[in-house]
Amino acid sequence: MLAIITGASSGLGKEFAIQLDKMGYETVLVARRADKLAEVKSKLTNKCFIEALDLTKKENCFALKEKYPCADVLINNAGFGKFGGICESDICTDEQMIDLNVTSLYILQKLYLEEFVKRGKGKILNVASAAAFMAGPYFALYYATKSFVLRISQAAAREAKGTGVTVSAFCPGSVETEFNAVANTVSSSKPISASNAVKYAIDKMNKGKVIIIPTLKIKAAFVMSKLMPENWLTEFSYHTQKKRFGKK
Ligand SMILES: NC(=O)c1ccc[n+]([C@@H]2O[C@H](COP(=O)([O-])OP(=O)(O)OC[C@H]3O[C@@H](n4cnc5c(N)ncnc54)[C@H](OP(=O)(O)O)[C@@H]3O)[C@@H](O)[C@H]2O)c1
Repeated sequence: MLAIITGASSGLGKEFAIQLDKMGYETVLVARRADKLAEVKSKLTNKCFIEALDLTKKENCFALKEKYPCADVLINNAGFGKFGGICESDICTDEQMIDLNVTSLYILQKLYLEEFVKRGKGKILNVASAAAFMAGPYFALYYATKSFVLRISQAAAREAKGTGVTVSAFCPGSVETEFNAVANTVSSSKPISASNAVKYAIDKMNKGKVIIIPTLKIKAAFVMSKLMPENWLTEFSYHTQKKRFGKK
């Protein structure tokens, strides 16, 4: 059994590597920092391949599929956010966020979904976020990319129904990883551990659940997002994000 894990050099991706290895999977670890990937590899017992690739370059997504045409699990996890207003953001960073969170995730999902459906088996877990549930003023592009991840996962899951292939979207709230340091912000709520988050995600992925939400608080936020008028939801999100300016 082979699992391909993007963003495996830290945080959730590293935990996916450790836990899937313990379950007997061979792994392909993908991220840019080769030294960090080697550290993760040193913790694993099964066969592990390291691919130091920048997934914002779409040719690297195609090259990955060429090199590993078959797999059993794809964990589409690499992603980042940048906190701040739309008028102040750096357009190059914005483009990189779209290239990674949206384009690379979509290409890898598409390529492996085609393969999995042909074979009649396989699991894809796309790491979205609770940010997918609403608009996120001051974290706008990140929230929007995660809405994309949620919607494309739901659609793919429906198309794949009955083929033996499952597609899931993992939607955690705050998790203890390098995410906030990269995003240049602080958590707006108490983070959960990456190890608990990943344990929950793998369990639900194996059960074929489409939307995976790891805590009661985020489950409640999901329900609220369905009940509240959109403009109230955006106001709520605006005030939550604005508080982060004071905490930076
Ligand atoms: N932590 C949270 O609170 C939280 C909550 C909800 C959802 N998420 C989502 O969880 C996923 C994992 O993030 P994390 O929290 O574990 O943060 P993290 O510790 O910063 O991990 C992000 C991973 O993505 C990789 N990555 C970044 N840019 C890349 C690129 N251009 N090409 C290839 N890999 C790249 C990083 O590796 P390199 O730097 O070595 O390339 C790293 O392995 C993300 O999609 C994030 O949006 C996080």
